Amino acid sequence: VRTAAVIPAAGLGVRLGPGAPKALRTLGGTPMLVHAVRAMAASRAVTHIVVVAPQDDPEGVRRLLDAHPLADRTGLTVVPGGTTRQESVRRGLAALPDGIDVVLVHDAARPLVPVETVDAVIAAVRDGAPAVVPALPLADTVKQVEPRPQGTPEPVVGTPERSLLRAVQTPQGFDLPTLLAAHEIVVEGEGATDDAGLVERLGKPVVLVPGHEEAFKVTRPLDLVLAEAVLARRRA
Ligand code: CTP
Ligand code: MG
Repeated sequence: VRTAAVIPAAGLGVRLGPGAPKALRTLGGTPMLVHAVRAMAASRAVTHIVVVAPQDDPEGVRRLLDAHPLADRTGLTVVPGGTTRQESVRRGLAALPDGIDVVLVHDAARPLVPVETVDAVIAAVRDGAPAVVPALPLADTVKQVEPRPQGTPEPVVGTPERSLLRAVQTPQGFDLPTLLAAHEIVVEGEGATDDAGLVERLGKPVVLVPGHEEAFKVTRPLDLVLAEAVLARRRA
């Protein structure tokens, strides 16, 4: 079985505030994307990585990654991204080399995922699950609302039972034909915010494995503070 990872890294990071594209912002002096690539390459199963780079400068990203070399066993391809995450993932999948059976899709915005989580996802796909997602229980109670323009109070429609909800992370792992089929049938703009959501629409089973607190997504400025602290603790 050959396993590859696609890393969507083409987002702007609007919620993080002004600056370089999010994947190129540094953590502990090293770009977030480099951390994310190393996190995938840390798994001995991963033989190839496709980085989906910000559209305006894929060559710059290639040079950046060449300056942070991986072990020889891991191949690397860089392709330009699209305007949505879904389109970026699709472009990454199109650039996979031949002979891949299992694919991980991992957000560059989750730079600190531990290798144990990566390996647990791969193992579950190899054991026969077509789609595997790392997930954690929620800390906050969640409300469903009727959306209103910003500044207007929003009416609550309901409160899903928290114990039945999970917050999902990446890397999400797939049997490659399953993920290709999912991306083929689902039309852009139908609002899937993760890849497993596309597979669910195919009617194929998606299973969860335990996620990890350190696989959190760097989204807002406070997340950078947490990521720096996690990294400093690891280096201590
Ligand atoms: N992504 C991508 N192509 C896009 C949009 C997002 O490859 N057109 C990637 C991001 O680079 C990130 C991952 O998808 O690694 C998860 O997206 P998110 O956390 O939303 O990142 P951004 O879209 O960059 O952030 P924001 O939504 O705040 O602009
Ligand atoms: Mg986004």
